Amino acid sequence: MGFLLFLAAFFGLSIAQTSATFSCSKWWPGGISTVTVHDQCSYFPGYENGQLFGGSQQVNVTVVYTQGWLNSSLASIETVTPILSETLSQSIAYYATFGNVLPSQVVVILTSIAKPPGAADTGTADTVFPGTQYQPCQIRTFPVWTDNTVNNRPRSLFAIAHEMYHCAQQFVLYQQDRDPKNYGDDPWIIEGSASYMANLVFPLDNVERVGPKNTSYDPTLPIYQNNPYNAEIFFQSLEFNTEAVDINNWVMTNAPDYYATNRTHLSTISDFIDKFYSFAKQYCLKMILDTDGFYIQNLTDIIPTPATISLSTDGNSGTASLTTVPDSITTFNLSLSGGQTVVLTSTASANQRVAYRLPNDPWWSDMPTGTSSGSEGNVVLPCNNDGTPVTILILYVSSSDADYDIVNINIQQQNTDQDCPCFLPGGVGSTRRREITKRGLQGCGNSTSLPSSGNNSTTPSSGKGNGTCQASSLTDPCLSKTWTLNLPALQSLLETKVESEGTVNSISLSGTGQLDISGTSAGFTYSNFEVDIDLTVIGIDLPTTTVINGDFSSSLFVQSGGNGAGTFCLVVYEGEGTATETDSLTGGFSLNLGPQGGFITSEMVMTYTCDTESLTMTGTLNGVTAAGPWVYSSS
Ligand SMILES: *[C@@H]1O[C@H](CO)[C@@H](O)[C@H](O)[C@H]1NC(C)=O
Ligand SMILES: *[C@@H]1O[C@H](CO)[C@@H](O)[C@H](O)[C@H]1NC(C)=O
Ligand SMILES: *[C@@H]1O[C@H](CO)[C@@H](O)[C@H](O)[C@H]1NC(C)=O
Ligand SMILES: *[C@@H]1O[C@H](CO)[C@@H](O)[C@H](O)[C@H]1NC(C)=O
Ligand SMILES: *[C@@H]1O[C@H](CO)[C@@H](O)[C@H](O)[C@H]1NC(C)=O
Ligand SMILES: *[C@@H]1O[C@H](CO)[C@@H](O)[C@H](O)[C@H]1NC(C)=O
Ligand SMILES: *[C@@H]1O[C@H](CO)[C@@H](O)[C@H](O)[C@H]1NC(C)=O
Ligand SMILES: *[C@@H]1O[C@H](CO)[C@@H](O)[C@H](O)[C@H]1NC(C)=O
Ligand SMILES: *[C@@H]1O[C@H](CO)[C@@H](O)[C@H](O)[C@H]1NC(C)=O
Ligand SMILES: *[C@@H]1O[C@H](CO)[C@@H](O)[C@H](O)[C@H]1NC(C)=O
Repeated sequence: MGFLLFLAAFFGLSIAQTSATFSCSKWWPGGISTVTVHDQCSYFPGYENGQLFGGSQQVNVTVVYTQGWLNSSLASIETVTPILSETLSQSIAYYATFGNVLPSQVVVILTSIAKPPGAADTGTADTVFPGTQYQPCQIRTFPVWTDNTVNNRPRSLFAIAHEMYHCAQQFVLYQQDRDPKNYGDDPWIIEGSASYMANLVFPLDNVERVGPKNTSYDPTLPIYQNNPYNAEIFFQSLEFNTEAVDINNWVMTNAPDYYATNRTHLSTISDFIDKFYSFAKQYCLKMILDTDGFYIQNLTDIIPTPATISLSTDGNSGTASLTTVPDSITTFNLSLSGGQTVVLTSTASANQRVAYRLPNDPWWSDMPTGTSSGSEGNVVLPCNNDGTPVTILILYVSSSDADYDIVNINIQQQNTDQDCPCFLPGGVGSTRRREITKRGLQGCGNSTSLPSSGNNSTTPSSGKGNGTCQASSLTDPCLSKTWTLNLPALQSLLETKVESEGTVNSISLSGTGQLDISGTSAGFTYSNFEVDIDLTVIGIDLPTTTVINGDFSSSLFVQSGGNGAGTFCLVVYEGEGTATETDSLTGGFSLNLGPQGGFITSEMVMTYTCDTESLTMTGTLNGVTAAGPWVYSSS
């Protein structure tokens, strides 16, 4: 006998070939004929009396092979022996840490059956309990596995670890008095978790998502419509906050025992939606950490769907209706004006989850449901001084048992950044405007109501002026127009005006200005409006430069006249920018264009003349020129 064993080590093939054969299905007399192997088998050398693996939970593994297997071109007992030893010892030792999950008897049958009748999978290997009793578990390998033992050793190791977890799944179902034989064709919980567990056994090989079933996970499809093996990525994402033993417990509790792997089943698993939500958050950010310590590569991009907002009449709040296919991952983008704080809430039910983030945020925030408290759902939308809108990304998932599922989100403006410029419709990128009208979620509206946000600006109350500048019954329709600074006309007006003060050496003007008057609203805008005047006064050369940049919003009240000529006053309630004068005598001064800046005050009397083509005005205080003059033409 000693001599024979010695020979077996060196001439294993020939010894094995001559060894006695027996029915491959001898462990399951009366077992299910469609899943047992109808062939003659021999013991794989070293497994004649079974081998015990595992620690406290010992599993007796018998390995046999069909005669056809030994004949297949890449079959080699020498090659397979260490592979079996490694994968059986590692996988059984690992799964034993989950508790009593493995059957005490497992038979591995190496076959060359290309397409076994009744096989759920014709790929690498499969696992069944053919008997009326749950012992032993049968694992069959197919030709791909044998090829892999030579050409892709990591895959052959992985495959047995994957199948061994199927033994555990079905054994646990038996223990729960559930019927493992009916557990469906390739349900994703079964296959995805088996690949995940095998990846825990061999984390560094990274073969869990390659091979014939390597088509990418499609996040836009329900998880149960994906290739069930690729659902491995869902279980991988659970590692983010769940121990392997708890993932195992979840699988064992929720493994379906009839073809119930669809959304009806998922809708009844109370913690599925939170697990799927966590998976979806990680997937969208491509931050699913593999057990090997690297992020999983090449995840499919999820293209956001632009969400349509229904705005309230004041433009300060809105709602959007989002639709998803349950158990798939759906993202949306919302476009809102910068320079405001909004609060997002959703109507999410127990089977729905909604998250949001700004594009540069590294992580998703949960959107509160119903009402928000504290900072929940608060989003500060940064001011883009060029008026570019800000995008908010929304993630929405559902586990409802329905073809489609809708959630509504509510967007409520909290306050606006008073220093952020606002743009009239169509004005983005061209004419920059402070809000002479209202600022809403998606920009300046056309409403004539005044800004409601913030208490820091001097907002005239209900059309009344403040102090000396009062609303009056006078109006002048001639003023209501969009006006553009007329530099040549202003230049000749200035030449006439300063002639009396000294010798004019030069006057030059540049830049642009616009004035938009609509009833009692007047918005002034200046872009590098510069007036250079060089005068010689009593023998002294006095060059002055005035540069105005910025804009302000005001209420305009006609005080006298009103038929193409008269006076009005302005109450500036909002503005930013400066008017800077430089001269060689005093050095100069700078005025803020805003309400308290003094550039325009409500005490100034603006004397004007107006016709369809032109508007001229000058501001005086106690009869002394204090602002202007300006000459505008209609634009
Ligand atoms: C494995 O099980 C077989 C069948 O019950 C038995 O004959 C054998 O002794 C067992 N092997 C070990 C190592 O326990
Ligand atoms: C194995 O190969 C030999 C030689 O080609 C052949 O005679 C025999 O029938 C084959 N056995 C099986 C079970 O395929
Ligand atoms: C995916 O599977 C196909 C078909 O088996 C194979 O050609 C390809 O190399 C695989 N890709 C990866 C990344 O494994
Ligand atoms: C879910 O499974 C049940 C039971 O097999 C079946 O009637 C139903 O059509 C399935 N639904 C979906 C959406 O797959
Ligand atoms: C990701 O895709 C690139 C390009 O197709 C490929 O070269 C790379 O191997 C892929 N990485 C993984 C991990 O599949
Ligand atoms: C929203 O996403 C789509 C792509 O789905 C993109 O074309 C569009 O520009 C995005 N809108 C915003 C405001 O980011
Ligand atoms: C706002 O004004 C713009 C430009 O005059 C116009 O095109 C747009 O229709 C107006 N929008 C509303 C809601 O009145
Ligand atoms: C009002 O001004 C104070 C002090 O500058 C500032 O802290 C506050 O945020 C402002 N409030 C609003 C609503 O703009
Ligand atoms: C502005 O002041 C009014 C009256 O004092 C107050 O009721 C309101 O809450 C304030 N609004 C803001 C945005 O601070
Ligand atoms: C108008 O209101 C502002 C801000 O409260 C104040 O500083 C200014 O003195 C008022 N003007 C008059 C004329 O009352």
